[in-house]
Amino acid sequence: MSTAFAIDFEAEDFVEADFSHHPVAVHAAEVTRHFSGQAVLDSLDLTIHSGEFVALLGASGSGKTTLLRILAGLDAPDEGEAWVPEARTVVFQEPRLVQSKKVWKNVVIGRSGKAASRERAEAALAEVGLSHRADAWPATLSGGEAQRAALARALVREPKLLLLDEPFAALDALTRLKMQQLIGELCQAHGPATLLVTHDVEEAILLADRILVLKEGRIAFDRRVQLPHPRRAGGADFDALRDTLLTELGVPQAE
Ligand SMILES: Nc1ncnc2c1ncn2[C@@H]1O[C@H](COP(=O)(O)OP(=O)(O)OP(=O)(O)O)[C@@H](O)[C@H]1O
Ligand SMILES: [Mg+2]
Repeated sequence: MSTAFAIDFEAEDFVEADFSHHPVAVHAAEVTRHFSGQAVLDSLDLTIHSGEFVALLGASGSGKTTLLRILAGLDAPDEGEAWVPEARTVVFQEPRLVQSKKVWKNVVIGRSGKAASRERAEAALAEVGLSHRADAWPATLSGGEAQRAALARALVREPKLLLLDEPFAALDALTRLKMQQLIGELCQAHGPATLLVTHDVEEAILLADRILVLKEGRIAFDRRVQLPHPRRAGGADFDALRDTLLTELGVPQAE
């Protein structure tokens, strides 16, 4: 599959790829999680720095969602520890909107006082291009619109850590490209540490500062993406990294 589009960051927005001098946003130390006697995560170590956009690849069942749920605080490790910012939020593959609340109320759901105001909701909806749907019911949204609403709900919380579990997987190809671009822009503008779980190697290369592969319960591959923005699919460096990643994922590439 080829995704020929550019992530168009302004040149002055370009953040250098080395985040090692930024504060640590996530630190997982020897995290182990068992299910039915099997170690899905096996003494996993991971550090993510503030502002860093990290993509996490791995075969189905390799434990990506398990790790994300632990970092979100939705699950706890059996052994080891994970330090994460208090302000963190997750966007899942499905938008998980409350059907009985209008879109703007969904955006500020669980907030109180000024943080729950329509003004706040509208500001976030404007950022994701959904202002015109503020008063809509979730059931009337398209898949892409619903996922934008979920993104607005995440942004309104001003997370220091944004966890994305295959947020584009259920979308059609064109909507997916638009959402990828939007996520790239929003993360540049807001600067949270971001962990994006995806099966799409090209998506990972287009968006991420760093790409990880989860295998046998650990981070088996950890590579900084040195390609400058705006990034486009294709070109020798892009293709070489894609082939390396596919090989890591058990899909060896022909010479
Ligand atoms: N609550 C649970 N109870 C029992 N087993 C579980 C539970 N959660 C996850 N598992 C198992 O742990 C393994 C890893 O699951 P996980 O959902 O983390 O994989 P994944 O990498 O996200 O896969 P996919 O790419 O298909 O989403 C799987 O074998 C899964 O069946
Ligand atoms: Mg998963």
